[in-house]
Amino acid sequence: MDELRGLILSGGKGTRLRPITHTSAKQLVPVANKPVLFYGIEAMAQAGIRQVGIIIAPETGEEIKQVAGDGSRFGVEITYILQDEPLGLAHAVLTAEPFLGDAPFVMYLGDNLLQGGIQDLVTAFRTNEPDALILLTPVPDPENYGVAELDGDNRVTRLVEKPRDPPTDLALVGVYMFTRGIHDAARAIRPSRRGELEITDAIQHLVDHGRRVEPHIVRGWWKDTGRLDDMLEANRLILDAIEPRIEGELVDSTVDGRVVIEPGATLTRATVRGPAVIGAGARLTDCYVGPYTAIDANCEVRNAEVEHSILLAGSSVCDLDGRMESSLLGRNARVRRDTSQPRAHRFMIGDNSEIGIP
Ligand code: TTP
Repeated sequence: MDELRGLILSGGKGTRLRPITHTSAKQLVPVANKPVLFYGIEAMAQAGIRQVGIIIAPETGEEIKQVAGDGSRFGVEITYILQDEPLGLAHAVLTAEPFLGDAPFVMYLGDNLLQGGIQDLVTAFRTNEPDALILLTPVPDPENYGVAELDGDNRVTRLVEKPRDPPTDLALVGVYMFTRGIHDAARAIRPSRRGELEITDAIQHLVDHGRRVEPHIVRGWWKDTGRLDDMLEANRLILDAIEPRIEGELVDSTVDGRVVIEPGATLTRATVRGPAVIGAGARLTDCYVGPYTAIDANCEVRNAEVEHSILLAGSSVCDLDGRMESSLLGRNARVRRDTSQPRAHRFMIGDNSEIGIP
């Protein structure tokens, strides 16, 4: 068998995470201060994959290249593959065909997080040698996912997209393993009603043509970070397992629980209750940072309370009356109380932003 390759899909439109995605790729939004995309690259490296292709879009590709580089720091070799238009996951596979050749590969959606990595799945794939292996996880609301139906021999017989009457509670997770047959399947299918070449249709095509598609049930948690709530949830799950480490400077400050404070961060009369991570060069003054908060490099929190939130690099929260929670602040965004008259809410916010006022 050719050496296993990796394919990470990091193109797409990211409409559900606007306005963040107006200026940046959603796969670069940090979870516990690390871009989502890096978790996927690291999972590939841990599973022994050396050649990783990353699908990029024209708008955000350059930024992704700059941040992820040639892959050497992850111990992999990255090849960037430009997809001119986000025409679907199966279209992304076809776009990557020159890179993949005849090699079997793991496909990983660049905005997904899978606890425990992909080693188990790679082992199952090597042992059983199916034509495709799909990851499934039981969910309480299968009607919102792609759902798989299985037969008694542990084979996938049917995939249905967001079924009104779900045949099982097994949702498709954004990680797949394929052999070369997927290219012909992707070529054979037609665009769906939403105009995309769907990977579920390509997999169904394999099933319909007698190929062996096996399920692999995920044991740990899995998260698709495509929406704000999911992003916050992923942040929570990752922070729950971080190794505490304090390298910044603390002056009259208290730190409880699982907390990482990076070098160069300064805390003055601050209380941080973990799980939380405070990035390099961040300044926390006269403030409270509550559980499940990730504050990236060079942020400022002064005279304010912040909890269950993600602050991207350079953003600040100052002089708030109440507590800010369940929020995502983009790079260099500023939230502060305005004391000028008349007393009114004043905003300068980008397209598709969202503000909640109690
Ligand atoms: P989605 O989250 O399904 O699509 P999207 O990124 O366009 O987001 P939205 O629905 O909010 O507009 O895509 C899953 C992953 O696959 C994500 O990392 C983007 C990537 N992708 C591609 O690389 N090419 C594509 O053609 C599509 C549809 C997605």
